[in-house]
Amino acid sequence: MKILITGNMGYVGPLVARQLRVRYPDGFLMGLDTGYFAHCLTGAPHIPEALLDVQHYNDIRSFPESLLGGVDAVVHLAAISNDPIGNVYEQVTLDVNTRASLELARLAKASGVGSFVFASSCSVYGSADDRPRTERSELSPLTAYAKSKVLTEEGLRELAEPGFRVSCLRFATACGMSDRLRLDLVLNDFVACALSAQRITVLSDGTPWRPLINVTDMARAIEWAVERDSQGGDFLVVNAGSDTWNYQVHELAEAVARAVPGTEVSINRHAPPDKRSYRVDFSLFKALAPAHQPQATLQETIDRLRQGLQAMSFQDQNFRESSFMRLKVLADLTSRGLLNESLAWVHRSAASAVTPKYSGRLESAAVL
Ligand SMILES: NC(=O)c1ccc[n+]([C@@H]2O[C@H](COP(=O)([O-])OP(=O)(O)OC[C@H]3O[C@@H](n4cnc5c(N)ncnc54)[C@H](O)[C@@H]3O)[C@@H](O)[C@H]2O)c1
Repeated sequence: MKILITGNMGYVGPLVARQLRVRYPDGFLMGLDTGYFAHCLTGAPHIPEALLDVQHYNDIRSFPESLLGGVDAVVHLAAISNDPIGNVYEQVTLDVNTRASLELARLAKASGVGSFVFASSCSVYGSADDRPRTERSELSPLTAYAKSKVLTEEGLRELAEPGFRVSCLRFATACGMSDRLRLDLVLNDFVACALSAQRITVLSDGTPWRPLINVTDMARAIEWAVERDSQGGDFLVVNAGSDTWNYQVHELAEAVARAVPGTEVSINRHAPPDKRSYRVDFSLFKALAPAHQPQATLQETIDRLRQGLQAMSFQDQNFRESSFMRLKVLADLTSRGLLNESLAWVHRSAASAVTPKYSGRLESAAVL
């Protein structure tokens, strides 16, 4: 098995690399990432890419087609990966998440790749009433990020055919510990607030529905999609998560407060309704992938996050201004002239800009 994982150097990627390495101990696993967050390791015992056979540093907007030779499956994670970034970089979001992603899929198909797994998102449902959304429900993407996922799914539908199986996994919001932890995700944010300030402030009235999935369970779903048979058809869109993980935001805050004694929860009961609210029906995923259903519990997920953050001596009440936030990392790289306004690396200035501060890291990168 030869598998290419794009966007492997983010939050989800390290878990996917581990899952696929366990599944294919002798497989050839390649990573490809532009490396925005490569330096944002969070307590990792070794660099996660050590589990791969090769790591490529490329931008998918100029994808080197030759890398696809002999590849059986592409797991496509690379993306501008949340609403706040998409709001600031709307055009870049569409360019990376839709145009370049569809071009990658075209190249993959032409190169004989058999399975293309796309990390889509339940945010395509946007704002909805209380009824759980199925894959056939109307879509209501509220942001550039969510719209980009809808457009990519539509383009992939056109490309799928026998021999080029496409699986769009509409993931619930991710949570849980990772070698490159993000704290711009709701449950992770609550755990960080509880540990650093002993207080969780819910900005909404706490009622919005937010289905979650642990990152380890995302990786299990991806393993299933890589290998799935023809049961779901050449083109499959499936909600990836589990019915029991449909939570309201206040339930998440309360669960974290129970796990971190001394935490107060404050809910803004008078807040205007939060538009992003949706419950999701995961029964199709359950029927298609009975052996790859989510396994983590909410309690375990919170405990692992707490342990992971405590092991890093995490206490930063100001973490929303830190490199735990994807948008902050990109803002820092652009303000230092390392990325341009299209979020492409500016290599020449990069060399002189990073040397004084990061010379140690650059030396170790060269050794690797
Ligand atoms: N985290 C979630 O809650 C969640 C939920 C649903 C779907 N997803 C999807 O899962 C995927 C992975 O999410 P994540 O949380 O790991 O995000 P992340 O931001 O941590 O990682 C994304 C990775 O993609 C890379 N990347 C971005 N633009 C690129 C480009 N032009 N060329 C090459 N690499 C590029 C980044 O460097 C980064 O390593 C994304 O497609 C995201 O939309 C995530």
